[in-house]
Amino acid sequence: MSVLETSVAAAPARAPATHRTPPVTYNDRVVVQFSLATVLWGIVGMTVGAFIAAQLYWPDLGHGIPWLSYGRLRPLHTNAVIFAFGGSALMATSLHVVQRTCGVRLISDRLAAFVFWGWQAVIVSAAVTLPLGLTQGKEYAELEWPIDLLITAVWVAYAVLFLGTIAKRKIPHIYVANWFFGAFIIAVALLHIVNNIAIPASAFKSYSVYSGTVDAMVQWWYGHNAVGFFLTAGFLGMMYYFVPKQAQRPVYSYRLSIVHFWALIAVYMWAGPHHLQYTALPDWAQSLGMVFSLILLAPSWGGAINGVLTLSGVWHKLRTDPILKFLVVSLSFYMMSTFEGPMMSIKTVNSLSHYTDWTIGHVHAGALGWVAMITIGSIYAMLPKLVGAERMHSTKAIDLHFWLHTVGVVFYIVAMWIAGVTQGLMWRATNPDGTLTYSFVESLNATYPYYLIRLGGGLLVVGGMLLMGWNVLKTLSDGRKPAAAPAATLARA
Ligand code: HEM
Ligand code: HEM
Repeated sequence: MSVLETSVAAAPARAPATHRTPPVTYNDRVVVQFSLATVLWGIVGMTVGAFIAAQLYWPDLGHGIPWLSYGRLRPLHTNAVIFAFGGSALMATSLHVVQRTCGVRLISDRLAAFVFWGWQAVIVSAAVTLPLGLTQGKEYAELEWPIDLLITAVWVAYAVLFLGTIAKRKIPHIYVANWFFGAFIIAVALLHIVNNIAIPASAFKSYSVYSGTVDAMVQWWYGHNAVGFFLTAGFLGMMYYFVPKQAQRPVYSYRLSIVHFWALIAVYMWAGPHHLQYTALPDWAQSLGMVFSLILLAPSWGGAINGVLTLSGVWHKLRTDPILKFLVVSLSFYMMSTFEGPMMSIKTVNSLSHYTDWTIGHVHAGALGWVAMITIGSIYAMLPKLVGAERMHSTKAIDLHFWLHTVGVVFYIVAMWIAGVTQGLMWRATNPDGTLTYSFVESLNATYPYYLIRLGGGLLVVGGMLLMGWNVLKTLSDGRKPAAAPAATLARA
């Protein structure tokens, strides 16, 4: 049996001590496949991100070729990083964690293979149709109806695989990471189906059943909860497993993690209208969105603090373990973006930030700082053992990756904050006679240098991802060397 297919593990520590549980063989093949897909799509999606960042500086970069135009590549970037990179990472880690914490193998290897290949088919379909300009025009839900149907089928299979494995668990307790993964899976199914109800007009064109303000409200109920459940809840599942595991410490407070879970789930669903401040949406709904966003600060920080304090007593490990650095710094970016988000939802602040690059800075503090860093740390922590290697091939390369990524993200978000606030202030400045002080082009000129700084930051991040790709490939070949394990054992003896 190849190392990719299964790994054998001793019975988990929580199993009853009275009768010995036989060793469990896990399905690691699907976990490794999704991990490799994460790295691949991370490189692709972030390279497209760097390309569109360059286009904002050099607008002629696409040479007038339609499928290289900014309007088509931007949704390709968002879909690639959120659903291909983030989605593959969530599937890899959830399927890894659920087996380890339930003490059982996934319920079906065939279903697991269907989920993997089905999800890759969704990604490839997106990569072909978006540059062709085939789109529903709803942000983060651009894909046309045939692909939406495929997503539904794959997602239901994923839900059956994950929840079915929990149902046949050997360990009575359901570890908190699985609560977060489970909520992410159920909520995303609901969001995807409700927001994408459409009437097909042809093979590649459909029309949403919603219109006007109702359409906007449903779309941003979806959009915000895509952030809350896809980009947050699932990654918190990762945090609750990989931070304690890498720090070799129990979660700081298990009780807090349960409060964190229920508070986050209860509040997120109501905050969507903060994307529609000062629009045709009824005023009370806008205020409701603002109030729930402000409340959201508490569970977000409670959860992040729970993760950070898990390191109590082992802070010194940060000096030598770059994987832990990725995990902990991701939590600081999570705290930063979940402080900034509630502030931006306050109507008067939003009147300055909306439509500006400040939003883009906020997005990437969350996406590149939180989502990408917790993912990268988790993959580094999880992958080597699954492919039969002792550890990642090069710890130095992980450390270099950490610095490239961190410096890249800081360049990116600081540039966007300055650009965004500058734009907001210039757009609202008026002369004593009521006319605008600045023309739009003047605000564009003021923003221009920051686009180059953002591009520099993006290229550092892409450089780090390429380094990760190299390190992963070397680790795979380390794992394949037959002498690797005995040699390591001898060296330690
Ligand atoms: C090398 C790294 C990256 C670069 C250079 C980059 C660059 C960009 C650029 C130039 C935009 C368009 C901004 C605009 O329209 O003004 C954008 C949008 C976006 N990116 Fe990235 N990005 C990167 C990584 C990521 C990652 C890892 C994620 C998610 C996990 C992400 C999520 C998004 C989202 C959600 C938007 C749309 C934001 C909005 O509509 O407000 N990006 N990115
Ligand atoms: C307490 C948590 C958070 C709150 C209350 C919040 C609030 C907000 C607000 C008010 C906006 C601006 C809406 C606008 O003016 O159009 C926004 C945009 C956004 N946020 Fe957050 N945010 C939070 C956390 C996060 C995190 C952790 C991420 C990413 C992982 C994230 C991703 C985004 C994205 C992608 C957008 C842009 C949506 C778009 O217009 O395309 N947010 N958020």
